Amino acid sequence: MTPFLVMDVLERAHAMERQGIDVVHLEVGEPDFDIPGPVREAVAAALAEGHTHYTHSLGDFELREAIAEHYADRYGVSVDPERIVVSSGTSPAMMLVFSLLLEAGDEVIISDPGYACYPNFIRFAGGVPVPVPICEEDGFQLSAEMVARRITSRTRALVINSPSNPTGTVLSGERMEEIAQLGVRVISDEIYHGLVYVGRERSILEFTDDAIVLNGFSKLYAMTGLRLGYLIAPQKFIRPIQKMQQNLFICANSAVQRAGIAALRDAGEDVERMRRTYDERRRYMVRRLRKLGFGIAAEPTGAFYVFANARHISADSYSLAFEILERARVGVAPGIDFGAEGEGYLRFSYANSIERIAEGLDRIEEYLVDRERR
Ligand SMILES: Cc1ncc(COP(=O)(O)O)c(C=O)c1O
Repeated sequence: MTPFLVMDVLERAHAMERQGIDVVHLEVGEPDFDIPGPVREAVAAALAEGHTHYTHSLGDFELREAIAEHYADRYGVSVDPERIVVSSGTSPAMMLVFSLLLEAGDEVIISDPGYACYPNFIRFAGGVPVPVPICEEDGFQLSAEMVARRITSRTRALVINSPSNPTGTVLSGERMEEIAQLGVRVISDEIYHGLVYVGRERSILEFTDDAIVLNGFSKLYAMTGLRLGYLIAPQKFIRPIQKMQQNLFICANSAVQRAGIAALRDAGEDVERMRRTYDERRRYMVRRLRKLGFGIAAEPTGAFYVFANARHISADSYSLAFEILERARVGVAPGIDFGAEGEGYLRFSYANSIERIAEGLDRIEEYLVDRERR
């Protein structure tokens, strides 16, 4: 396993805070909002009503029905609740999926830059991550042509993640359609769905039924610590996944599964309020970062990240992130965390209040002026 470098930054930031130093956090990929009211009420009610026992290993049936309804309403796709497996977050669902698909030496195509944990999950299941470079000049869009060049007899899957961590890119419908037609099984990590500020995101299930969807409640519903996610897979995979779930995890948290139903059915207003707030912060952050000289060739339109080119300051993103932390007292994520192609970039998260984002960017501005003088 490689370390998750942003956690190194965060832990150093926490050490500084223990010494009384104020640090602005633009490194963490976690909503700063509290859970929506209907979710809080649903957890409390679930505990009071005794939803404290094991559930069905595939998940509470009503939650699976609510997930199926959500996919029908939002994307117009029909998903049988029997094809859904509920898990304690997207991460365990990811582990189940890679364990299901991979034998030693099997290859999985991923984008570079991409979510830092994918290669580790793939290796943990015995597989080999095969990165496809994506670049800012092409709007960090994965292209079917580039993927096709990396397909071999060992290729078992391709992972897509739109909106993306770390780039904030939303993959166009045309690109998704081309990717779906490549004949490689697509694993679509849809965890940032709903957090889109221009146009709309598409689900892979709009293009093929043969794909596997990973999704969860951490980001859109600000439920990171409650740990709830799910996967949607072709029917033939459900029984093997269920056997792993029964042995490895038994089931997801029962009270939190009830909260998942409330999130999907009753938290629409809260979600829209958070989405609008993220959008304000996004526009502010992009404008200011550009003014400070960071390169943002393609405006990010989803998730809550800006992946900014900082090569004019330093080609070593790890050292730069620590220098910014020590000197400017602002946490940022080093681009190298997200793959070799991310080197020279910094990921800024706008999952923080606009006042704190402004304070953080003011500090970076001062740091850059000071750096010029030295
Ligand atoms: C792309 C992506 N997938 C999955 C996860 C993990 O989510 P969960 O909290 O549901 O395990 C994250 C968390 O940062 C993420 O960015």
